[in-house]
Amino acid sequence: MYKIPANTLFVGKNLIYVPECHSTNTLAQELCQKTFMSEGTVVVTDNQSKGRGQRGNVWLSMPGMNLTFSVILKPVFLKPVDQFNLTIVISLSIHDFLCELIPEEIKIKWPNDLLICGKKTCGILIENTISGSMLQQSIVGIGINVNQPSFSLDQATSMKVITGKEFNLSDSLALVLLKLEQRYLQMRNGKYHDLKAEYMRYLFGFGKQMTFADSEGKFDGVIQGVTDDGRLVISRGEQIKKYNFKEVTFL
Ligand code: BTN
Repeated sequence: MYKIPANTLFVGKNLIYVPECHSTNTLAQELCQKTFMSEGTVVVTDNQSKGRGQRGNVWLSMPGMNLTFSVILKPVFLKPVDQFNLTIVISLSIHDFLCELIPEEIKIKWPNDLLICGKKTCGILIENTISGSMLQQSIVGIGINVNQPSFSLDQATSMKVITGKEFNLSDSLALVLLKLEQRYLQMRNGKYHDLKAEYMRYLFGFGKQMTFADSEGKFDGVIQGVTDDGRLVISRGEQIKKYNFKEVTFL
């Protein structure tokens, strides 16, 4: 059902399609434990029975309507302290993909949600394995809401809801894998500064007053930036705080 992308060098050249599974991230991990998996291997399914999201949440997706897949990467050139670069690369690649197909405004909500018109259209779950002082393997799980017509959550949307158009899932996967490889190669070529600058350009809420919550409660603040290790920098009056992923939420 899914075709191998024609224009990539290694991403998607080994494409494993299963009609259904628990979670493509879990399946990719299981496959890596059992046997050698080449870099760029993609595991894709039509239906996840236990799709996993960030913060231990579930990822729900109507069967056969959306893209749910995982890419096995081996960024052995990255130190654990630099792993946020991978988040940047994957976020930008989905941004590139959506921008090619959708005329509306696309934003990246820290750290790696993709929003169209302010609503979540894609979630990313990156699971890294570290060996010694370097990353060994990354399972990059991506869920893109493509043709799903409706959502129980008001903050979620799909490419179809926004455009009124139906998208071919196989063509969409081929395009997103191409974008992912292009951004990944940009990182492999050392263009960290350019990648970070682009990530900041598309960052949702950058420089704007917004409401957040941390362990001390609700507060109004302004996003000032993101540190190189991926912490969100928020100013609150005179005070500046840097937050790790689970320490702050957008309200
Ligand atoms: C999030 O919470 O925003 C991350 C969602 C990630 C969902 C994708 S779907 C494919 C892959 N397999 C999973 O179980 N999760 C990721």
